[in-house]
Amino acid sequence: MNRLATDEKFVFVNEVGPRDGLQNQAAHVTPQDRIEFIQRLLDAGLAGVEVASFVNPKAVPQMAGAADIMSALRALIDDKQTQAQISVLVPNMYGYKAAQEAGAGIISVVPSATETMNQKNINMSLEETLATSCAILAQADKDGVRGQAYISVAFECPFEGPVGVQQVLTIAERLTQAGAKEIIIGDTIGAANPLQVKNLFAKLTDIYPPSFLSAHFHDTRAMGLANAYAALECGIRKFDSSVGGLGGCPFAPGAAGNLATEDLVAMLHQMGFTTGIDLNKLLSIATFAGTLIDRKIGGRMTAWFAQSSCQPAM
Ligand code: HMG
Ligand code: MG
Repeated sequence: MNRLATDEKFVFVNEVGPRDGLQNQAAHVTPQDRIEFIQRLLDAGLAGVEVASFVNPKAVPQMAGAADIMSALRALIDDKQTQAQISVLVPNMYGYKAAQEAGAGIISVVPSATETMNQKNINMSLEETLATSCAILAQADKDGVRGQAYISVAFECPFEGPVGVQQVLTIAERLTQAGAKEIIIGDTIGAANPLQVKNLFAKLTDIYPPSFLSAHFHDTRAMGLANAYAALECGIRKFDSSVGGLGGCPFAPGAAGNLATEDLVAMLHQMGFTTGIDLNKLLSIATFAGTLIDRKIGGRMTAWFAQSSCQPAM
């Protein structure tokens, strides 16, 4: 995060393809192939990669092998072969302990803003989820692990409909008091529009510094990029995205892929921001990820970029 503090043109792109991108695919990618996917992303210059989730493999078989992935990457981190922030998702204390044993230095808890979404996603009530998330964040603090917190369905829940801004603010406050180092606002089913994004982030940045906040957009209704721009305008400089637009939560009906990393990066570079990412490498990774899941993937700008002879300022 240091570069965010010292370089006002830098935007931190956190790639969630190996986790969000793969967790809902019909094809189950082996841990070995997921490690190669992650290594390619690191080589392309991603500032952060969410590499796995420590969830029940019976619930999400696509994420089995998280400990193997984390321990393979631990060697890279220890040898200082990567400066990138390697994070993992944990839904409960069991997952936290497994992640910590596997050497995770950054974890994200995953509360949702509504009662039903928590029940469907992690089999806990909203109150149980918040208590559990807070206990994990407090434990992470003690263990020297950076604890981050998603707030999923922050705009709309597939079961309960629109989510009020005050609900998100109340949850953010509780997670912050428990020691969260970052709040990641998740538009899980890609239902938000840029005005809603502006409204929520304006309220959040009245309370928290923008550097404490991050945005995680799904692109179900093709508003991912517009929503990222709205957050950018509110001073947000950290975004989750997924190469090729992979993604979706298995427990949130209607959740399509995340905002494609290549589209986000192309927009940022054209606007004069820097990300440290090599867009050419990113596009070849989208092709590679497509071979892993046996289908063609790619963001909106992929075809243009492949054919363009000018490729300005990328
Ligand atoms: P549960 O059935 O209530 O758990 O599931 P339990 O505590 O009753 O235990 C049942 C069994 O699961 C036991 O094993 C436990 O040991 C085991 P058994 O005795 O039957 O052999 N268990 C675990 N195993 C591995 N890892 C664990 C774990 N915990 C218990 N962490 C649980 C609760 C949370 C485990 C389950 O519901 C689960 O794994 N859910 C997965 C949820 C998930 O991965 N959702 C997608 C990620 S969230 C998302 O995509 C949104 C996001 O992208 C943001 C956005 O888009 O907005 C982040
Ligand atoms: Mg997501």
